Amino acid sequence: GKYRVISTKPMPGTRWINLLIEQDCRVEICTQKKTILSVEDIIALIGDKCDGVIGQLTEDWGEVLFSAFSRAGGRAFSNMAVGYNNVDVNAANKYGVAVGNTPGVLTETTAELAASLSVSAARRIVEADEFMRAGLYDGWLPHLFVGNLLKGQTVGVIGAGRIGSAYARMMVEGFKMNLIYYDLYQATRLEKFVTAYAEFLKANGEQPVTWKRASSMDEVLREADVISLHPILDKTTYHLINKERLSMMKKEAILVNCSRGPVVDEVALVEHLKENPMFRVGLDVFEDEPYMKPGLADMKNAIVVPHIASASKGKIKGYPVWSNPNLVEPFLNENAPPPAACPSIVNSKVLGLPV
Ligand code: GLV
Ligand code: GLV
Repeated sequence: GKYRVISTKPMPGTRWINLLIEQDCRVEICTQKKTILSVEDIIALIGDKCDGVIGQLTEDWGEVLFSAFSRAGGRAFSNMAVGYNNVDVNAANKYGVAVGNTPGVLTETTAELAASLSVSAARRIVEADEFMRAGLYDGWLPHLFVGNLLKGQTVGVIGAGRIGSAYARMMVEGFKMNLIYYDLYQATRLEKFVTAYAEFLKANGEQPVTWKRASSMDEVLREADVISLHPILDKTTYHLINKERLSMMKKEAILVNCSRGPVVDEVALVEHLKENPMFRVGLDVFEDEPYMKPGLADMKNAIVVPHIASASKGKIKGYPVWSNPNLVEPFLNENAPPPAACPSIVNSKVLGLPV
């Protein structure tokens, strides 16, 4: 192979390897047991010559790594994630490295996990499972594990991009929930879908669902019964959900986070869970992964899973798109401008990265 491409982790399937080989790449896969590679570990992997790297969201791709990578001839870095908060795109630009992510391929799987967490929290599935296994079930009772009926309640979506919109569709269509969403940009396709669905329900003699685009995030927090977070993580969304915003939510609300941990102030969340036993959360991501803030693991009103939203085997249409953020479909939603420009685009075919 003319180009040396490293994958910092073994990844599912073999097609990506074949695609790289077809493009004259020699592919090296790091099989080190250590779960999270440090900057030093990756610099050692890169060595003296390395053209491309496929990395993971757990790695800190900043100034230090990009400068070492560029010294080794590095030209393309692909993050196996839709979120690229672990990548300093400006540093990549400075060193002429093209950056790719994987939008599109994990939309449905992530939305499905957010929906699962929503329903599990509403119906107290995990608590009930623990109760059963502990041998505590001694007969049916009318008030055993009473949860929330989703039908007719309001689902609130913060960040109505690909994933947020897919989640909204699932909750509206699956459970006939009303929708309130907040996004900087109008989610036209989502609005059209809910409007058409409301008409369908009406035509069939059922109570139609309603929807609205909130003029502020706080409006969603105040009005929704189930709130799911789907923003990107950057300076503007760090601790978006803090003590003050938690206090705006209904006492019996459900909060779901399958985006990035730091979007929620986890210490404030633990306090809120302690003070409001009827408030429930479903979390796939944490502020200091892989750790949880003290007290979270003891909260019966929290469901916690280890960042598994993208971890599903179902067939997806097409193949993961390793693309420059500049080239991907509109980011937050179809009306949003593309994310931070990354002018150092290398035609990804040059490096054999599948396009
Ligand atoms: C997973 O967290 C991703 O961003 O793809
Ligand atoms: C409950 O199990 C019922 O039959 O209503």
